[in-house]
Amino acid sequence: MCGIVGYIGHREAYPIIIKGLKRLEYRGYDSAGVMLYDGDNLKLSKTKGKVSDLEERAKQITTNGTIGIGHTRWATHGVPNDINSHPHISNSGNLAIIHNGIIENYEPLKKELIKRGYTFQSDTDTEVLVNLIEEVQKKENLKLGKAVQIALNQVVGAYAIAVFDKQNPDEIVAARLGSPLAIGVGEDEFFIASDASPFIEYTSNAVYLEDEEMAIVRLHKPLKIRKIKDDTLVDPYVQELQLNLEQIEKDGYDHFMLKEIYEQPNVIRDTYRGRLLANEGIIKMAGVEDNLEKFLNAERILIVACGTSWHAGLVAEYILEEFTRIPVEVEYASEFRYRNPIINKSDVVIAISQSGETADTLAAIKLSKEKGAFVFGVCNVVGSSISRETHAGAYTHAGPEIGVASTKAFTTQITILTLIALRLAKAKGTLSHTDFHRYLQELEIIPEKVAEALLTNDKAKEIAARFKDAPNCLYLGRGYNFPVALEGALKLKEISYIHAEGYPAAEMKHGPIALIDELMPVIVIAPKQGHYDKVVSNIQEIKSRSGKIIAVVTKGDTQVRELADYVIEIPDTSDALSPLLTTIPLQLLSYHIAVMRNCNVDQPRNLAKSVTVE
Ligand code: F6R
Repeated sequence: MCGIVGYIGHREAYPIIIKGLKRLEYRGYDSAGVMLYDGDNLKLSKTKGKVSDLEERAKQITTNGTIGIGHTRWATHGVPNDINSHPHISNSGNLAIIHNGIIENYEPLKKELIKRGYTFQSDTDTEVLVNLIEEVQKKENLKLGKAVQIALNQVVGAYAIAVFDKQNPDEIVAARLGSPLAIGVGEDEFFIASDASPFIEYTSNAVYLEDEEMAIVRLHKPLKIRKIKDDTLVDPYVQELQLNLEQIEKDGYDHFMLKEIYEQPNVIRDTYRGRLLANEGIIKMAGVEDNLEKFLNAERILIVACGTSWHAGLVAEYILEEFTRIPVEVEYASEFRYRNPIINKSDVVIAISQSGETADTLAAIKLSKEKGAFVFGVCNVVGSSISRETHAGAYTHAGPEIGVASTKAFTTQITILTLIALRLAKAKGTLSHTDFHRYLQELEIIPEKVAEALLTNDKAKEIAARFKDAPNCLYLGRGYNFPVALEGALKLKEISYIHAEGYPAAEMKHGPIALIDELMPVIVIAPKQGHYDKVVSNIQEIKSRSGKIIAVVTKGDTQVRELADYVIEIPDTSDALSPLLTTIPLQLLSYHIAVMRNCNVDQPRNLAKSVTVE
């Protein structure tokens, strides 16, 4: 939540910051701001709205200067308005700060600062932090770095910050705890950002700050990193970035979400590349291999995740239990962390997260580790907090997911979890030789089938046109496709703001059936494999109550076609792998409905891509 960008070097800072903020807008987009320093003056421009609104607003200032910081906000404390937007300036007018995170103890700190004569313009916790830094600095006549360090030792919460001091204008101080922060190291220039995308075209050298580290980036000086707690120096670990510009651009698509939907055949292949050797009957995953005993001795697998990643966890529950016969429980990380859960040393905890930064998932991991469980991470973002906090893990290799609504992250998570289930099943002998090899072969050709499922785009568009004004929508599925129904409903509500619910198809008669009338679109996932006959009966129940049926069926299906108002055909595959295909038309349907309703598909209201607050 919130994206931050800073620059210090020899180039004009403003265009770098604006472009960088646009790339980080997925992290929050309710207000934006920039502070520039031109050698004499500190210039500030900020506004409610998007980065494009900031560009308009910034026409009121001169935007020259080779030092600057910028922010795109997802509001926590204080409504989105001009005043609450970042950067925030200290009372003296010398310090400027941008902040991603939450200062939990800001109220007592604010009261104390007010007693000392400080005044506040905004409702934010961030303005408290910048004045706290100023107070520390003034009291002991300290350099900015030292003042930031002392102030941060007084705050409770999470932060990624960048602070600039007009009195020492050749440096920016950045620090992190719980919110991501990368430093781009160029020739005589530094970039500071929530992820590497703002500086990818300038340098491929990046240092990812660890929690409780601060960086002092100073012109013509090497990067300095210190521990916030005890001030010890840390050797910067410079990584070579694998990102390229193409990956973070729309590539001719109208929206990132559509691009990412269409990337799925390739990214699923990237996910299993080098890991799945179907002809040899081998699955190679270092993180699993190195810890195979732990997995095999696990009395239980606990999966923790949020949102779409939680849905991938539910699919994995079905797959893991079926393939390995290890009991699996799937928990919302936000519930798990606060409900005193039973976690045993013999449990394996799998944490799933696209961003690798979700605060609740991170907390669930820490709790599991404290209780002695082995924690395995499934993340997309390389070097993310969760990937570092877990004992071992596997990256999904989906590439940057910029559309706020998760699409390719979901299918690649399922792919990884299927590989894990197959590897364990092989070791445990819980799948027959024939079934094991059949799944391997099927998984290998699934990208082609996903590509075929994408051909449902026109059909999805036609159905979207028919139902775009529906106020409600039901999604039904059974077995492996029950979580797909949940995910289909989540996708629709988050990007089109239509109320939607996902249910196990058989649960319908225990309540939701009361909602069905001739105005209610019901999306039923009814592939040939699985509990087909049962789902057909459920469809009949809907039909006899005049519900409008949109069915996702296996190519060539005739029985459902006779009952449904619309059918969307996908290729055939086994029941366990079917979520990788049934998901595709549901993503497309949500996408088209949202476009037709003029919704902001890539940046739905009130949402942010990585939820780094609880
Ligand atoms: C929905 C969506 C969210 C995320 C959730 C967890 O489309 O994207 O529900 O899945 O916020 O995020 P990660 O996977 O980054 O932990």
